[in-house]
Amino acid sequence: MKIEGRTFVVSGGASGLGRACVQDIVAHGGNAAILDMNEESGQALVKELGADKARFWTCDVTDTENISAVVKATVEWIKKETGKPLGGIIPAAGVGNPGLMLDKKNQPLSLDSIDFVLGVNLRGTLDLTRQFLPHLANTTPVGEDLERGVIIMVASAAAFEGQMGQVAYAASKGAVAAMTLPMARDLSRFGIRVVTVAPSMFESGMTAVLSDKVRTGLQKAMEFPARPGKPHEFAALVHHAIENIMLNGVVIRLDGATRMPSKL
Ligand SMILES: NC(=O)c1ccc[n+]([C@@H]2O[C@H](COP(=O)([O-])OP(=O)(O)OC[C@H]3O[C@@H](n4cnc5c(N)ncnc54)[C@H](O)[C@@H]3O)[C@@H](O)[C@H]2O)c1
Repeated sequence: MKIEGRTFVVSGGASGLGRACVQDIVAHGGNAAILDMNEESGQALVKELGADKARFWTCDVTDTENISAVVKATVEWIKKETGKPLGGIIPAAGVGNPGLMLDKKNQPLSLDSIDFVLGVNLRGTLDLTRQFLPHLANTTPVGEDLERGVIIMVASAAAFEGQMGQVAYAASKGAVAAMTLPMARDLSRFGIRVVTVAPSMFESGMTAVLSDKVRTGLQKAMEFPARPGKPHEFAALVHHAIENIMLNGVVIRLDGATRMPSKL
C-alpha cells in the first residue's frame, strides 16, 4: 500500500506513538484522520500539518455512536474534499491504568478498572476497525495483488511478559496480539492486511507519567539501545508495514531485545 494519495485513520493520533504515525503519513503525501479525546492537542497537530492534509475528530473509542459519526464525517471529507481513498486504519488509542489483582488491603482489582482498560484497548480497537472496514473494503483495489489497505494494531511487550499490576493491560494487549492472525484470515479475500506492533517502553504521554523508580527499573531491563524508544522509531515500522505487502497476520516486537522482568 502506498502512503501517498491515501487517507489513514489514526486513533490516539493526538499524542505519542499515534501522533508520530500521523506526522510520518502526512510527511509522505498521505492524509490523516486524527481521532482522539484530546481536542486541544489534536487541533494543534492539524494546525501544524495543514487542514487539507489532516483533520481532527473528537472521538471516544468506547462510544460506538461517536465512532459511527466520525466514520461518516471521515468518509465525507474524503468524498467531498480530498479524493484520497482510505488506505489503512491504525487504532493506537490506549490507556494503562495499572492495578494489582489483589492489593495489600486484600481488595481485588476493581471491575471498573478492568472494564476501562479492556474497553479502550480491546473493544475500542475492534469497534473502530469494524466500523471503518466496510469503507476500506469499498475502495478500488490497487497494484498487481489488488490490495485495498492495511490495519495496524498496537499491542505491547506486556502481551507477552506483563509486569505486576498489568493484568488488565496485559489481557487487552494479549487479545490484540491474538486477534491479528484471525483478522488477517478474515480480511484476506478483500485484499486487506493486518499487522500488529508490540512496543516496549517508548517516550509518550503514557510513559511521561511513570515514576522515576519505574522508569529506571524498566531501563535496567533494556539490552540495546538501553533507552526508551522514540515515537519516530515506532512510526518508521508502521510506515514499513504499510508499504510491505508480505507483512500480514504477524505481531512484530519493537523492543531492542528488552524482556520485561517480574519485579523492578
Ligand atoms: N509508550 C509506550 O511505552 C507503549 C508501549 C507499548 C504499547 N503502547 C501502546 O501504544 C498506544 C499509544 O500510546 P502512547 O504511548 O502513544 O500513549 P499516549 O498517552 O501518548 O497516547 C494515547 C492517546 O490515546 C488517547 N485516548 C485514550 N483513551 C481514548 C479513548 N477512549 N478514545 C480515543 N482516544 C483515547 C489519548 O487521549 C492519547 O492522545 C497505546 O495503545 C499503548 O497501549 C505504548
